[in-house]
Amino acid sequence: MHDAAISIKNLTKSFKDLQVLKGIDLTVARGTVLGLLGPNGAGKTTTVRILSTLLQPDGGEISVNGYNVVTQADDVRHSIGLTGQYAAVDEYLSGRENLIMMGRLYHLGGEASKARAEELLEQFDLVQAADRPAKTYSGGMRRRLDLALSLVATPPIIFLDEPTTGLDPRSRLLMWDIVSSLKKSGSTILLTTQYLEEADRLADRIAVIDRGIVIAEGTADELKDRVGKERLEISFNTENDFIKALSIIEGEAIQSNKEEKTISLATGGTVAEVKRVLDIMEASGLDIDTLNLHKPTLDDVFLKLTGHQAEEKLDESVKEK
Ligand SMILES: Nc1ncnc2c1ncn2[C@@H]1O[C@H](COP(=O)(O)OP(=O)(O)O)[C@@H](O)[C@H]1O
Ligand SMILES: [Mg+2]
Repeated sequence: MHDAAISIKNLTKSFKDLQVLKGIDLTVARGTVLGLLGPNGAGKTTTVRILSTLLQPDGGEISVNGYNVVTQADDVRHSIGLTGQYAAVDEYLSGRENLIMMGRLYHLGGEASKARAEELLEQFDLVQAADRPAKTYSGGMRRRLDLALSLVATPPIIFLDEPTTGLDPRSRLLMWDIVSSLKKSGSTILLTTQYLEEADRLADRIAVIDRGIVIAEGTADELKDRVGKERLEISFNTENDFIKALSIIEGEAIQSNKEEKTISLATGGTVAEVKRVLDIMEASGLDIDTLNLHKPTLDDVFLKLTGHQAEEKLDESVKEK
């Protein structure tokens, strides 16, 4: 499989008697972005660590840039840029100095190292902060510097492990722009995320991972189609009505939220189908608060596939460190 940038077949990994990867299969075509989407503890970081040779797999056939991650680890390392929970940033050096030093590490030569540093400072919106020590950087700036450092040697394949977790909305948008422009320049990217919106926005294909298994794979649209064309969401004024509605409504993929007294069901999106549901409500004397018809989101997909919600919602994690 030399044309795939990343190929994973039946990858397994245990820590002591805890099996955290239970036979992962994934292929990432060159020049595409794969979003590996899953809640905390799903096995995303373990997968990325194996792909980047920081951790040995127990079993499986895994290649990156055509190289076997076990027997050709050096070649794999030269093919990748890795960023995430392994920060390479030196706190006491400025952003520019950090980048130049990384260039030297890669034997780029003095002039070339400087030139590459300037290029990256520009690309990652760090020009203003270039001469300040990295320890004065905000969370978003540090994350961008970390990513820039991993790209000094222009690797063809980039791993981003939860690149925006914990970032404020502005920094998150900036990171999304950066990922998009990396993709435009032809990089292959494997991005892990807990955020459905992030996968939806950035990824060509999405693999949903839960408890060490890939439970679905496809484009965002393909995944959404699995949940039905349109979702009808009805909320009730009283808990009583909510419970009663749950018991009488028949339909595929019913989801309910007790706190918000809301039910949601799949429909083909036609007026007749919506009317049928409303007729049942009326006949049972149920008091509807709000009614809403929307295209399925990846949230709906995740809930349908796993029976539980993706752990965090985007906006609840907004705290810049
Ligand atoms: N070095 C380790 N030793 C023991 N258990 C680990 C180790 N690394 C990860 N785990 C466990 O493996 C599971 C998957 O972790 P991880 O790959 O970090 O998930 P994710 O990145 O999707 O949140 C979790 O249950 C985690 O506690
Ligand atoms: Mg992780």
